[in-house]
Amino acid sequence: MSHAILKSLGLDQTLSGTYLGQGEWSATTDAGTLQPTNPATGEVIASVPATSAADYEKLIARAQAAFKIWRTTPAPQRGEAVRLCGEALRKHKDALGSLVALEMGKIKPEGDGEVQEMIDIADFAVGQSRMLYGYTMHSERPGHRMYDQYHPLGLVGIISAFNFPVAVWAWNAMLATIAGDICIWKPSPKTPLSAIATIRICNEALKDGGFPDLFFLFNDAGSELAQKFVDDKRIPLISFTGSTKVGRMVGERVAKRMGRSLLELGGNNAIILDESAELKLAIPAIVFGAVGTAGQRCTSTRRLFVHESIHDTVVDTLVKAYSQVEGKIGDPTLATTLMGPLNSPDAVQAYLAAIEKAKAAGGNVRSGGKALTDRKGNFVLPTIITGLKNDDEVVQTETFAPILYVMPFKTLDEAIELQNSVPQGLSAAIFTQNLKAAEQYLSAAGSDCGIANVNIGTSGAEIGGAFGGEKDTGGGRESGSDAWKVYMRRQTNTINYSDALPLAQGIKFEF
Ligand code: UN1
Repeated sequence: MSHAILKSLGLDQTLSGTYLGQGEWSATTDAGTLQPTNPATGEVIASVPATSAADYEKLIARAQAAFKIWRTTPAPQRGEAVRLCGEALRKHKDALGSLVALEMGKIKPEGDGEVQEMIDIADFAVGQSRMLYGYTMHSERPGHRMYDQYHPLGLVGIISAFNFPVAVWAWNAMLATIAGDICIWKPSPKTPLSAIATIRICNEALKDGGFPDLFFLFNDAGSELAQKFVDDKRIPLISFTGSTKVGRMVGERVAKRMGRSLLELGGNNAIILDESAELKLAIPAIVFGAVGTAGQRCTSTRRLFVHESIHDTVVDTLVKAYSQVEGKIGDPTLATTLMGPLNSPDAVQAYLAAIEKAKAAGGNVRSGGKALTDRKGNFVLPTIITGLKNDDEVVQTETFAPILYVMPFKTLDEAIELQNSVPQGLSAAIFTQNLKAAEQYLSAAGSDCGIANVNIGTSGAEIGGAFGGEKDTGGGRESGSDAWKVYMRRQTNTINYSDALPLAQGIKFEF
């Protein structure tokens, strides 16, 4: 099975984790290897040679040379390059979606969905390539014109996480490319194959279309090269997706060299159900949010605040829904599976540790609470825990696993306060039929998250909106809306077409 998936993407030959540009994949094997492992079986899928320090230098030099050409290529032509990548991804959607499912462990429809996000952002970026708008301003001086324009930024470093091994790269890369930048990707060491396959697909499309190198790739067996990358002054923007702990280090280090960082870090996302909530909408949203991707999205639903009048009914209904999911846990590449494994044995340990902490704090495990030790792979049961308080340490912490903490509330003010009382601020939602409650929730005094929804869940954002969050989530925005601006440098231009040189602010300087 795994062989067939690799073969369908041409990954059954000798592999390299380094794309050096000019059609060249590095043959060096002395930098160690990555061993991507099938989370459903624990078997190593393939061995991928990591990138050497010398190859890293070569790749950066070639990326710098590529930028010199790309920055003056007209933006709509840059859009054409992205259009070709989108077309190629359409062709390979099924195979790449399967590889993501195999290597990351998310179910096949979610793997396919991830590739669909890549296609969608490519389409979005093609349109954006003709809309890199700046403003024109009226100068305070006669005979002067002012405007701002956006120029390409340079090399863009993309460090992505295992949970979205391909889509997050595309959110960054498609926009950065139409912005005139050259992208250098360091994927998660757990999912190098999905990255290699993506780069091959896109580079092939670029080559066929007569475009130069735009996408470079390196893989790090440890963290030495990754640190060099973050500290590298030749890379004006580092886009990092991952934990708050690592993201904080990345942000500090990039700031130290006056670089720009785009941080997409952890979430601790909540859903509020008020007394008017329509359960036929809320229950599937909660189950998808908490159980989908086995709770390994940064947008996964981790906390549920339920009005006390419906708390017990909601918990009972969720417990029933979870028992149905339990029968559909298994191989993520099979069409019948609803929940795959966690990505690594470490994630299983973190899940078990969180459940022990929750119990010690007085939590009641209402569903799940166990790893599935009767089989190979990193399988656990989706878990519902009641009886904890929002300020319990385990509830305050993002555990990347399908654990949902359910807590009652009395008033909407209280629920909003509880929802916001965590370090993270990524995604949140309310289920209500009450217009006043919905508007209060979305007001300046409402949800403090980067994404706030009414009557849909916390995860599964569309690419058209800006994606990201506040506080410990890092403040970055990727994907839609005006997120393209972060990949460009803004320039304010003032042109004097008069015969005089008046100074601004009415200053006279005569000599
Ligand atoms: C992530 O988990 O890093 O909104 C990204 C969502 C997806 C993206 C999640 N579109 O759940």
